[in-house]
Amino acid sequence: GVEITSLLKETGHVTLDPGYVNTGSCTSAITYIDGDAGILRYRGYPIGELAEKSNFLEVSYLLIYGSLPTQTQYEEFAGRVTRHTLLDEDLKNFFDGFPRDAHPMPVLSSAVSALSTFYQDSLDPFDPAQVEISTVRLLAKLPTIAAYAFKKTVGQPFLYPDNSLGYIENFLQMTFGLPAEPYEVDPIVAEALDLLFVLHADHEQNCSTSTVRLVGSSQANLFASISAGILALFGPLHGGANAAVLDMLEGIKADGGDVDHFVQRVKNKEKGVRLMGFGHRVYKNYDPRAAIIKKTADNILERLGQSDELLELAMKLEDVALHDDYFVERKLYPNVDFYTGLIYRAMGFPTKMFTVLFAIGRLPGWIAQWREMNNDPATKIGRPRQVYIGEPERPFVPIAQR
Ligand code: ACO
Repeated sequence: GVEITSLLKETGHVTLDPGYVNTGSCTSAITYIDGDAGILRYRGYPIGELAEKSNFLEVSYLLIYGSLPTQTQYEEFAGRVTRHTLLDEDLKNFFDGFPRDAHPMPVLSSAVSALSTFYQDSLDPFDPAQVEISTVRLLAKLPTIAAYAFKKTVGQPFLYPDNSLGYIENFLQMTFGLPAEPYEVDPIVAEALDLLFVLHADHEQNCSTSTVRLVGSSQANLFASISAGILALFGPLHGGANAAVLDMLEGIKADGGDVDHFVQRVKNKEKGVRLMGFGHRVYKNYDPRAAIIKKTADNILERLGQSDELLELAMKLEDVALHDDYFVERKLYPNVDFYTGLIYRAMGFPTKMFTVLFAIGRLPGWIAQWREMNNDPATKIGRPRQVYIGEPERPFVPIAQR
């Protein structure tokens, strides 16, 4: 209001934009979003087409290097990523230090941060060869780290990566396999997980990506910057929303499945009650990723032979919300997270792992954005200003006189 306006005048040339609703922090050639039209493109390619025709490693290459790989480039890239999946044996010890019930997201972030200590040959953010090897190491090792974070919570032994398997299959086998039992990766699960990773691979300047760029703008190395991004993704308003959706659906089910009652609580703005998986800062239309995932959820649950009561609740909830003035007026539509949790659950992942899966999917985007920032001569250290609203100058009062 008036007070802030006068404070802004006093502060000089400062724009006050809490949450950066309308402030561009960089130029970028990676991802295009038209939130009103519900359009998302990576490097110019529509997300629907990539979802249908590409795969996660190819999309990673596209995001990071700017164009689709030739067959030879693809094989060379996939081969390099495959050869770096092992973790240093000493890094494995880290997992023993965390409590059994630790959430896997901070474990993931800590292990990624620790990569800085194991690979001191890759810390110079301006040496292209070092950035390249860090890129490959991160893409290769994050699924191994994620699988070990999971194994820790269930008290099972860590499995070494099997580099005869594909990227997704290797991750699934390290997560769900046991040394004593052969584990067959279900191709339906692998295909769906690959698709979900493609849909999560980049989303321009979201909270975690902006974090990666902000940390990286201080010339922190790639591992440190991504480790920070993982923690930004941990929050329930960002990557944590996929788990929060499932908790919300479980809660509605436990309350007797009364969707209308829950929607009323959301509309009454009860503290802490939001329709999780709905709404987006940029999309004021159906999130194109949610549209693809909704089809997949239906399909995969059917193919896995699971009828899911929670999926039915989710669809009912969506239907009620899309026809309710509260949500219509505010342009609140399902976002990418509304249906992903249901799919992850059907695949056998516990809720705590959902956001970890998001992190694996988002990794190539973070890397691409960090590299773009470092190659941009216009990059400066990120350093927002503020509008001070505290006390004016006042004299210090000795403790005995307070
Ligand atoms: N449920 C109920 N009301 C909502 C929701 C929701 N999910 N989202 C927004 N609103 C309402 C707000 O209360 C506000 O209403 P008001 O104008 O009467 O005060 C209005 O819609 C605008 O909402 P803001 O919070 O200002 O929107 P913002 O852009 O800041 O927030 C966000 C976007 C965080 C995604 C929000 O929609 C939300 O909290 N959604 C639920 C969490 C979620 O699904 N997050 C995942 C986002 S996608 C991702 O990170 C992958």
